[in-house]
Amino acid sequence: MKTIDLRSDTVTLPAQSMMDAIASAQLGDDVFQEDPTTNELESLAADTMGKEAALLVPSGTMANLVAVLSHCERGSEVILGDQAHTFMYEAGGISAFGGIHSRQLPNQRDGTLKLEDVESAIRQDNVHFPPTRLICLENTHNRCFGMPLTVGYTKSVAQLAGDNGIAVHVDGARIFNAAAALKINVKELTGSVDSVSFCLSKGLSAPVGSLVCGSAEFIAQARRNRKALGGGMRQAGIIAAAGIEALKTMVDRISDDHRNAKILADGIAEIDGLSIDIDTVKTNIVYFSLKRLEIAGEVLVNRMSELGIHFFELSPHTYRLVTHADVDENDMDEALKVFKKVMADL
Ligand SMILES: Cc1ncc(COP(=O)(O)O)c(C=O)c1O
Repeated sequence: MKTIDLRSDTVTLPAQSMMDAIASAQLGDDVFQEDPTTNELESLAADTMGKEAALLVPSGTMANLVAVLSHCERGSEVILGDQAHTFMYEAGGISAFGGIHSRQLPNQRDGTLKLEDVESAIRQDNVHFPPTRLICLENTHNRCFGMPLTVGYTKSVAQLAGDNGIAVHVDGARIFNAAAALKINVKELTGSVDSVSFCLSKGLSAPVGSLVCGSAEFIAQARRNRKALGGGMRQAGIIAAAGIEALKTMVDRISDDHRNAKILADGIAEIDGLSIDIDTVKTNIVYFSLKRLEIAGEVLVNRMSELGIHFFELSPHTYRLVTHADVDENDMDEALKVFKKVMADL
């Protein structure tokens, strides 16, 4: 039976060209900054994001942790969304390892934080308050339908932050999806913010790795924090080689994933018993719900899984499908066929 894995874009396997790049990578000790392939990837990442420097870390979670630790001292505060990956899914690392207080503001459906909420959350200088050091945005926003934040919105947050002496970090795990959806160069989304992280191992299909990008001074601090967290890797060129290949070959095809997500969404809209807000589908993430609340939510996941279609229930009766380089248009048709059959039998 064919498997169509729509749980996440992290399930993608490296292309043969990535495996070839790994096999022939020039290597050295990256903790000594002597790994030529890692140096090349970091320089390519910095250029791509329009920043002075970049740092390779093992994961998106460590990228965000290193970035927040580098912007904030213990006892200071970061403003972020109550649906942010850093708040929801990173094991509370910023608080556990950084002693950094988080101030969660309600994420709007489009992934934004209201500017007036941000403004009123910024602390006044008062001995009772943790000083606000950082605002974190997420682009695209995973839990908010994979929505892309716009250039205009990002600039408004950066302006507000700048006026108050606060930095802005963007968790750009899927920032190339945002750029593709908005049909712009990714630099437009990063130009106004202090730091951005992005993942090689999601839409770009590389096996491992994320990059933190920012000023040279910020990245020097990030390098120290990565070491403290145990994220200094030796012959990291093994990872970086696939990352370079991913940046060179996988960015331009991301809009295929968005087209496939749209096919899924349009198909789901036609299936009795399922509901979807088509307008939320802007990138490679599709959220939909089961209308029949008398059926336990996991029944749909399990029946589909038995027939080879895998995805997650993210909250009761609400599900997420993620398209990526390892599924194509035929897989979308097949998945929809199975959805129709399973829903008819439920
Ligand atoms: C928006 C966002 N940020 C960060 C991460 C963390 O990435 P990793 O799984 O590489 O730690 C994810 C993972 O799915 C994510 O969706």
